[in-house]
Amino acid sequence: ARKIIIDTDPGQDDAVAILLALASPELEVLGITCVAGNVPLPLTSKNARVVCELAGRTDVPVYAGCDRPLARELVTAEYVHGKTGLDGIELPEPQMPLQEQHAVDFLIETLRDHPAGSVTLCPLGPLTNIATALRRAPDIAEKIAEIVLMGGAYFEVGNTTPAAEFNIHVDPQAAEIVFTSGVPLVVMPLDVTHKALTTRARVEAFRNLGTRVGHAVASWTDFFERFDMAKYGSEGAPLHDPCVIAYLLKPDLFTGRHINVEIETTSELTMGMTVADWWRVTDRAPNAMFMGDLDAEGFYTLLTERIARL
Ligand code: BDR
Ligand code: CA
Repeated sequence: ARKIIIDTDPGQDDAVAILLALASPELEVLGITCVAGNVPLPLTSKNARVVCELAGRTDVPVYAGCDRPLARELVTAEYVHGKTGLDGIELPEPQMPLQEQHAVDFLIETLRDHPAGSVTLCPLGPLTNIATALRRAPDIAEKIAEIVLMGGAYFEVGNTTPAAEFNIHVDPQAAEIVFTSGVPLVVMPLDVTHKALTTRARVEAFRNLGTRVGHAVASWTDFFERFDMAKYGSEGAPLHDPCVIAYLLKPDLFTGRHINVEIETTSELTMGMTVADWWRVTDRAPNAMFMGDLDAEGFYTLLTERIARL
């Protein structure tokens, strides 16, 4: 199985991504590292454990990491995810402990302990933990197999400001460190995730599984939808973060371009914008596989089939 570490700020769509990974025997989740993002760190590190318990996977260690961005004030998104970050269904308080080790130390130690190219990082929130690890231990860059992350946008521009996507906007300095690290990057921007929409039929398919997990996924996506449908006028809401895990399982669902992507870190107006050279109009070296499209039917078929296993 491919070894991964999920770095996350749950978040309903983060929760579904974690479930997809835990349901998939092709992946071995070495740990879940939490970061401040959708809601503050105490809630994201609690929510990750709520999700592990829902999946019956209390064996997966959960670590708390950075509680604020590298250089900016934390911006959260309760207006999307609700007060708890996982609004939509009431789940029991987690019994499994939070690990004592800091998430950044876990990342560094795990990467150093494994052969180069054998651990993939899957960031689903602001990139603060990953950037802090890379800054503190530059030697780990060579050891990371690949970073597959959700963040940024090109044609779909911003969901948080007119120019920026939430994860990159919250910590642009961290994003810049990751995008200039030389580590192979695969990016799932809004251009992809806004095509992974939860239609009525897709939500009902989760509910009709008749399982506790299926019910939770349907309840979360229902909650999420209220916000996005009003905002975008589209049918259903985008399930952003599961795209990262789906890519590891079935890369053929996605198409994109290997291009140069730079992060705006100085202009207040466009702070956190991912300046993606989609048309290759510069000679700047490509640093990311920037996805542009996905097979939404195939994605939901995979997701539903896997969620059914839990
Ligand atoms: C990203 O921001 C969060 O609200 C979601 O969990 C996702 O990771 C989408 O912009
Ligand atoms: Ca997220």
